Amino acid sequence: MGTDLGVLAVPDDVEPGDDLETHLGEAFTVRRLRGPDLFHHFERTGAPMVPRDIGLVIGETGIARGDRVLDAGTGTGVLAASMARAGASVVSYERDPEFAEVARENMELGGVADAVDVRTGDLREAVDDLEPSSFDVLTLDTGDAADVVTHAPDLLVDGGFVAVYSPFIESTRAVVEAAREADLSNVRTRETIQREMQFDDRGSRPSTAPVGHTGYLTIARNV
Ligand SMILES: C[S@@+](CC[C@H](N)C(=O)[O-])C[C@H]1O[C@@H](n2cnc3c(N)ncnc32)[C@H](O)[C@@H]1O
Repeated sequence: MGTDLGVLAVPDDVEPGDDLETHLGEAFTVRRLRGPDLFHHFERTGAPMVPRDIGLVIGETGIARGDRVLDAGTGTGVLAASMARAGASVVSYERDPEFAEVARENMELGGVADAVDVRTGDLREAVDDLEPSSFDVLTLDTGDAADVVTHAPDLLVDGGFVAVYSPFIESTRAVVEAAREADLSNVRTRETIQREMQFDDRGSRPSTAPVGHTGYLTIARNV
């Protein structure tokens, strides 16, 4: 591995806590990956969801140990891996075969390959083959999510949740309309936005850096 402190040879059997040295004699200590590290260390394909939005998805849907989650598109796989780390078993569809392959490698890196089944394919074409009422939560991060939301009442258990993330308002509106049409309950959308705070010698205030909009999160429930 190339670093700005020299080349680091990382053995296959490396363990957290091990000390390694670059060819220039610079010391590194091995640490176990934690959730937010997935965002920085997974190989990137589809734009990964940021940690705060993952927190919202998990918080709003109550994803917990033992839950079965249907997810699309896998993309980089940060959301899928984070849900698996929270204890869910995840079936995640990715229509781009190369992205799907990278996502499988990312699941290995994240230690959740057993809990995330990355399937190559378009979820819209696969929904009819999935067992009815076999998922607790449906998470969608695709521009065509509205086409899948239509099937949510068939896919979800009674009381299950849908969470749709979209950077754009047009696809968000389509999702809301599809959710209402499908008779899902408590359909609500919130913009996900955060202001970073600055603390310096002159005083404390919100950062003047660009507004932190990342997307719109729509939540609905199958009741
Ligand atoms: C924004 S990325 C998802 C990122 C992911 N949530 C994460 O945290 O890494 C969207 C992905 O969805 C895939 N995609 C779009 N529509 C799809 C569909 N109908 N079925 C399966 N994958 C789809 C795209 O190829 C892309 O990789």
